[in-house]
Formats: sequence, C-alpha cells, structure tokens
Amino acid sequence: MRTPKTKILVTGGTGYIGSHTVVELIASGYEVVIIDNLSNSSETVVDRIGEITGVRPAFHRVEMCEKAEMQAFFDQHPDIRAVIHFAAFLQVNESVKEPLTYYLNNLNSQLNVLQCMKERNIDHFVFSSSCTVYGNPDNLPVDERAPIKKAESAYGNTKQMGEEILEHTVKATRINAISLRYFNPVGAHESALIGEVQHGVPHHLVPYITETAFGKRSQLNVFGSDYRTHDGTCVRDYIHVVDVAKAHVAAIDRLINGKNRSNYEVFNLGTGIGYSVLDMIGAFTKATGISIKYELAPRRVGDVEAVYADTTLANRELGWKAMLNVEDMMRSAWKWEQAVAAKKTEA
Ligand code: UD1
Repeated sequence: MRTPKTKILVTGGTGYIGSHTVVELIASGYEVVIIDNLSNSSETVVDRIGEITGVRPAFHRVEMCEKAEMQAFFDQHPDIRAVIHFAAFLQVNESVKEPLTYYLNNLNSQLNVLQCMKERNIDHFVFSSSCTVYGNPDNLPVDERAPIKKAESAYGNTKQMGEEILEHTVKATRINAISLRYFNPVGAHESALIGEVQHGVPHHLVPYITETAFGKRSQLNVFGSDYRTHDGTCVRDYIHVVDVAKAHVAAIDRLINGKNRSNYEVFNLGTGIGYSVLDMIGAFTKATGISIKYELAPRRVGDVEAVYADTTLANRELGWKAMLNVEDMMRSAWKWEQAVAAKKTEA
C-alpha cells in the first residue's frame, strides 16, 4: 500500500509536463518537492498548482548541473523516496545548432541527480523519454521492442543516452528505473491555469494551430503533403498531457510498491491512434467551431512520416490508459491559449 504523504522530487516541475504531473501526484496523496532552474518556466506555476490542488508544493530553484547545489538540496530533504526527472532542454532545432549545450545540460543534470540518489539510497527513478528514440519505425504501431534508431538530433540523442545511462546504473546500484516514452503530448489542464508556455514562434503543431485561431499567426503551414499516409500529411500519436501526467503517478506507484518486473522498464505513452496534420486541423474546428487558415508547404527536415504507439504494455503493466480524446485535447489547448492572452492583457 502507498504510504500517505510519500515525498517525491519532481525535477523540471514548473515545466509543461512536469507541472501537470505535480498536480496529479498531489491529487493522489503524494507530497511533492519541485526543483527547476526556471530557464524555461516561471515560479508562478507553483502558485497555479496550489490554486488547482489546494496544496502549494515546496519549490527550490536549483541548477542541477552543479553537483554541489544538488547535494545541498538533497541534504535539506533527506526524506525524498523517489525522483521524476523532467528537467531538460527540449528544442530539436536548437539542439542541432547547439549540441554541446544540450549534451552538457541534459546529461549532467541526469548524472548529478542519479549520483545524489545513489549516495543517499533513494531507489526509484522515472525518466522522461520520447518516441523520438524510434526514429522512422519499420512497423506500426510501434512497441517497446522496436529497434532504437540513430538519433538525428542532439536532443534525441540525450534521450537515447539517458536511457542507456539508466540501463547501466540499475545494474550497479539499488536504483530501479522506468523510462516513459512520450509520443506527442498536447493540451492543458482543464482549469487553464497551467499549460505549455510558448516563447516566440511555436515549433509544435497544436500551439501553432491555437495561435493561428487566435490571430497571432496569419496561417498554418502544413509541412509536407506527399507522405504515404491517408491524406499525405504526417501522422502522430497525440496524447493529452493530463493522461501523460497520470501515467507518471502509475509509474511511481509501481516502483514504490515494488510491482516492477525488472529494475529497468520502458513504456510507451500514447493513445495508440494516429492522426494526420489535416486530421488535427479538422479536430480543432470540430471542438471549437473555428476554422484554421492553412497552406500545404514543403516537408520539414527531420520529420518522420508516421509514428503511433502500441500501448499494450503500459495498459497492462501500469494499469493506465489514455482516457481523453482529441477533442478534449483541442478544447483544453484552446482554453489555455485564451487564458494566456487574457493574462497578457491584464498585465
Ligand atoms: C517533436 C520533436 C520530437 C519530440 C516531440 C515532442 C521534431 C522534429 N521532433 O515531434 O523529437 O519528441 O516534438 O516534444 O521537432 N507541423 C506542421 N506545421 C507546423 C508544426 C508542425 O505541419 O507549423 C507538423 C509536423 O511536420 C509534424 C506534426 O505537425 O508532422 C507534429 O509536429 P510537432 O508538434 O512539431 O511534433 P513532432 O515533430 O512529432
């Protein structure tokens, strides 16, 4: 049974997926402490989590690449039982231009967290991985046994290397780890108090759709219309961020209750359904009544044609299943876009 108020450290807990996960952990009875260096998020997220859950989690601004800072933080919280590690740089394009920055940041922070855990006998670790490790998969839907393809970006490689670091670490320490390979997380909390904060032009599809609907962008470019898919546009497995967050609670429950079958496990987090770019534009219109102006444009370099998950393993082993559909994703993403705009007007 879960001990009441077991303390979980969430690194990167003020970020997009991290903040939604903190909400679900608190709702499930866990005590949460967040660390983040605020390089891509703000401390107001902690207040928002407090508004949603009625509990403001502890927050520390920590530079995880600095081992001494990490150690000082862990010394202040000797009762941490498990760690969910989100903190990472995540822009694919930026990582191609700045590979060393990505390797330095993403690998050092993970290594420092793991070393601190080892020194303190903290045994449970959940890692944010990505479907990017599958590259252009040979078979669809893709399951966890599919081969790992050579990464096209430094970002993707830090996820692959992050998984390899764990495979070796669990063999030589008490640490048990679960890697969760996210497909395409989208949407926002239904309260519209937390969501994905955009800095400049969005790279991802759904924020681009909502910004176009809002009038911040004149039109959406659909990258590629000659792929071998049902309508020629790329197919992805979009999953509501709240479903992704709930899978992390299931992974933590599994580790803490000793239900894991081996000391390193990997699970796909998707809905198992592939939607094309045009399907997503249609789903937005269906959910909101707003049409999106778009144009068919050339392919984007580095895009894979189609990828969607076989989620059988996560469904069976984690006892978890994505519950929210594409209209829920679009409705919540649109509500978030409007909330962000309203806040900017207030300020
Ligand atoms: C991206 C990352 C991936 C990361 C994932 C989750 C790239 C190449 N891949 O996946 O490594 O794990 O996010 O963070 O960046 N699209 C348009 N027009 C747009 C924007 C996107 O047509 O303005 C299309 C893309 O070509 C793609 C689909 O929409 O087919 C989804 O794109 P995006 O949201 O950027 O996610 P991914 O590229 O799948």
